[in-house]
Amino acid sequence: MDYVVEMVGIRKEFPGIVANDDITLQLKRGEIHALLGENGAGKSTLMSILFGMYQPDRGVIKVNGREVRISNPNVANRLGIGMVHQHFKLVEAFTVTENIILGSETRRVGMLDIRTAANRVEALSKQYGLNVDPHAKIEDISVGMQQRVEILKMLYRDAEVLIFDEPTAVLTPQEIEDLQGIMKNLVQEGKSIILITHKLKEIKAVADRCTVIRRGRTIGTVDVADTSRETMAEMMVGRSVSFKVDKQESRPGETVLEIRSLTVKNSKKVDALKAFSLELRAGEIVGIAGVDGNGQTELIEAITGLRQAESGSVILNGKDITGLSVRQRNESGIGHIPEDRQKRGLVLDYTLEENLILEIYKRPPYSKNGLLQRAAIRKHAEHIIQSFDVRSGEAGRSIVRSMSGGNQQKAIIGREVERDPDLLIAVQPTRGLDVGSIEYIHRRLVEQRDKGKAVLLVSLELDEVLNLSDRIAVINNGELVGVVNASETNEQELGLMMAGYHKEEGSA
Ligand SMILES: Nc1ncnc2c1ncn2[C@@H]1O[C@H](COP(=O)(O)OP(=O)(O)O)[C@@H](O)[C@H]1O
Ligand SMILES: [Mg+2]
Repeated sequence: MDYVVEMVGIRKEFPGIVANDDITLQLKRGEIHALLGENGAGKSTLMSILFGMYQPDRGVIKVNGREVRISNPNVANRLGIGMVHQHFKLVEAFTVTENIILGSETRRVGMLDIRTAANRVEALSKQYGLNVDPHAKIEDISVGMQQRVEILKMLYRDAEVLIFDEPTAVLTPQEIEDLQGIMKNLVQEGKSIILITHKLKEIKAVADRCTVIRRGRTIGTVDVADTSRETMAEMMVGRSVSFKVDKQESRPGETVLEIRSLTVKNSKKVDALKAFSLELRAGEIVGIAGVDGNGQTELIEAITGLRQAESGSVILNGKDITGLSVRQRNESGIGHIPEDRQKRGLVLDYTLEENLILEIYKRPPYSKNGLLQRAAIRKHAEHIIQSFDVRSGEAGRSIVRSMSGGNQQKAIIGREVERDPDLLIAVQPTRGLDVGSIEYIHRRLVEQRDKGKAVLLVSLELDEVLNLSDRIAVINNGELVGVVNASETNEQELGLMMAGYHKEEGSA
């Protein structure tokens, strides 16, 4: 069999956890091979081993049939292996070309070399349909374009095997489609791709084969065309998974949140939200649908108190909270699952236990006479870890930075739900999570609704907004385009509204 890469019996242990336990992955030449697994399953670890960032404790790696030892990423590059990481490693102030030649094994970098390099970058960009301007500065181009620069970086170094670590997590739906086109071009030109993802839709769209790992172990490799989404999901999580959110008709009660003609400026002092009004009642989920950057962030910041409103008001349970601080709003009954979980949701260098009491540590039973009560804190943490299935190496004592994104997110959701707020704001609550976690989190949000909470959901995943919401408010360019019942609309209608077309008027 013609394998470009073979990893056999790979084991890698970290303190307290076996990240990879006897994993086997065989990559055929010219295929797109998906590596599927839940958060924390060991995917990034396995690929970091292939890219020379970690040494395996056991196991064999073969490249083009020959056994190799990949002691660092330079060795990987020389063997024709490249990797696009989850977080790009580009220098903002440099141009595309400068970033691409940075760290490559060129001796001297003068003007002439830059020009030669830029020509080569341009040629590669053309060949693979990347459409990248070699002279653009990184800080001026979109995230999708930056990702293409990372792809070009691999191609510039003549990579034959390209590893993508969850490449679509940061992309818009359109950018995802474009990337899928690019991946198909790459294999057509003879490259081989390993695609780390937990999005089955994407695997179905591009992958030829799929290797599933669960809790560090290989579950199996399947041909994607012959395998249903349900089967792959079951292999991944070890039980059957439902893709439809199971929920009854909502029974909305009293008004919990009233947003009255809210106008909010963004950081560039431009009106990002314009006279926006919306009502949310107890026992319903209202989803905000919109293309990224149309005022969603400013709306949420104005409700939670992170940003001052220019005009208009926010009323919670009949009380005007427009002038209150973040903490006061929290205490008035707002729970917030923030958009950027690492910046706003967590203190990464604190332990999980500490993160779970961030908002309440000053209160009994967590504090007494100004002293933290470790036993009570631990008990609280254990309860959330248990009921929200938060997995990490050392339970409550784990440093949050070392936890996978999905487990970080479950911890935040557990913390916010446990505070029992009347209004739960969930911004991109399942971004970057696997189907098992998504199903779980959706169920918990519906459960909050059924307990009589008002849930405000902001998501860029239209599927999620449609599946989870009772009503959907569409936002475009900072304005409310309209509100529709989720059961009476569809992706097409929402898509049009997201582009600014009003339903009643039939025009923008
Ligand atoms: N450098 C590290 N030190 C300690 N534990 C780690 C390290 N990297 C990953 N882990 C742990 O190993 C497990 C697998 O992680 P990872 O390979 O990142 O999973 P995935 O990419 O599938 O989400 C997780 O439990 C994670 O917390
Ligand atoms: Mg990972």
